[in-house]
Amino acid sequence: MTHATPTPSSAANGPKTARPVNALKGRLQAAADKSCSHRALIFSALAEGQSRIEGLLESEDVLATAGAVAALGAKVEREGPGAWRVIGQGRWPSPAQPLDLGNSGTGVRLLMGAASRFDLKAEFVGDESLSSRPMARVLDPLARMGVKSQASDGGRLPVTLRGSNHLDPIDYTPPVASAQVKSAILLAGLGAQGETIVREPRATRDHTEIMAPVYGADMSVEREGAGLIARVRGGKTLTPANVSIPGDPSSAAFPLTAALVTSDSEVTITGVMTNPARFGLYQVLKMMGADIGMTSAGERCGEQLVDIRVKSGALKGVEVPAEIAPSMIDEYPILSVIAAFADGVTVMKGLAELRAKESDRLAASAALLEANGVKIELGEDSLSVHGCGKDGVPGGGRVKTHHDHRLAMSALIMGCGAQAPVGVDDVSMIATSYPDFFDHMAALGAEISAG
Ligand code: S3P
Repeated sequence: MTHATPTPSSAANGPKTARPVNALKGRLQAAADKSCSHRALIFSALAEGQSRIEGLLESEDVLATAGAVAALGAKVEREGPGAWRVIGQGRWPSPAQPLDLGNSGTGVRLLMGAASRFDLKAEFVGDESLSSRPMARVLDPLARMGVKSQASDGGRLPVTLRGSNHLDPIDYTPPVASAQVKSAILLAGLGAQGETIVREPRATRDHTEIMAPVYGADMSVEREGAGLIARVRGGKTLTPANVSIPGDPSSAAFPLTAALVTSDSEVTITGVMTNPARFGLYQVLKMMGADIGMTSAGERCGEQLVDIRVKSGALKGVEVPAEIAPSMIDEYPILSVIAAFADGVTVMKGLAELRAKESDRLAASAALLEANGVKIELGEDSLSVHGCGKDGVPGGGRVKTHHDHRLAMSALIMGCGAQAPVGVDDVSMIATSYPDFFDHMAALGAEISAG
């Protein structure tokens, strides 16, 4: 891989503290979407010929995927900020070294699926957090398709996988709502002999299904009530494409909700993707009474975009239905923080999957709130937050992030609006998903500094 990527500055390492401010103001372009960035690199590497990607998210997770597809035979070049050229060979060889996906669950799980359809042997490794996350949820359905793999104890990384160019199609209903599981199966299905079907009782993000036809794949998705059915017919050679990455609703949530925890703020983030399988948080914020305005901002790579404007104002606690969880699965840490500023109790249910994220996000979100004087009740798969309302969130805590980017950003957003500063033990991992977080927050007027 040839590229001169921006190296994270030491200013974005170690502990940091956010101090209370009254007003955050400004208009920023959304950070590029992480899920779509991984997928664009993988599809480009699967295609035969030269693809171009505009506005790629240059975060550590995505760069790990770029490194892995280069190790799998694609020529990967950075032409300028966010502008990448990928020349795929149409087939992937066995990589010479283990593929290190760092902290990225999306990278490792999607690549295991995509690599499965080639006659290769590959070892997948990751950092401590990724090595503690479950991989059997992907390896089990792949085994049904004819993929052989060997995982470490408890179905964890390192995983050695032997792909095959004679995969069988499957008709599969995943036991967990996971876009990574669905995508891994669909990517393997690109090489299976016949039609592979994934049925989701609750729809998860469908970026794989939306992007695949752009690269000439015979893949489709159909909504069915709260669920969906995704289908792929294997055997088609993928064709190169030029794609442009939409803005990330999960990253945009941090600067936007900062306006809700401070008293005199107005923040606009432009070019945010509105995919319904990603937009649950914004629905919940409206239920809480948040002052949110949206204007259409066109389309990118088959995904609709909006500009979102959020103004300060009173919020009320709500009951968040379990059915909405897959459409806001990454947003519960920040929603827990917002709930602490509301009047009344917010009850969140159906959160078991949060325990299998970059950290046990359910326990860690509860600890974040308690460390800052917020009353909570934590269940096996639920969290109730007693909002502080007019009394204000005490703050003053130092939060353990467990190397989890979304916890670190959520705690710092709390610090912008609490009565006393909120610190976190480390911020280096924020670069896995939102390398511009500190620049964006500073541009809005936030006071976040080392220590
Ligand atoms: C992702 C799917 C989700 C999400 C992750 C990105 C994706 O994970 O939490 O940040 O890009 O497919 P699960 O599939 O494990 O729910």
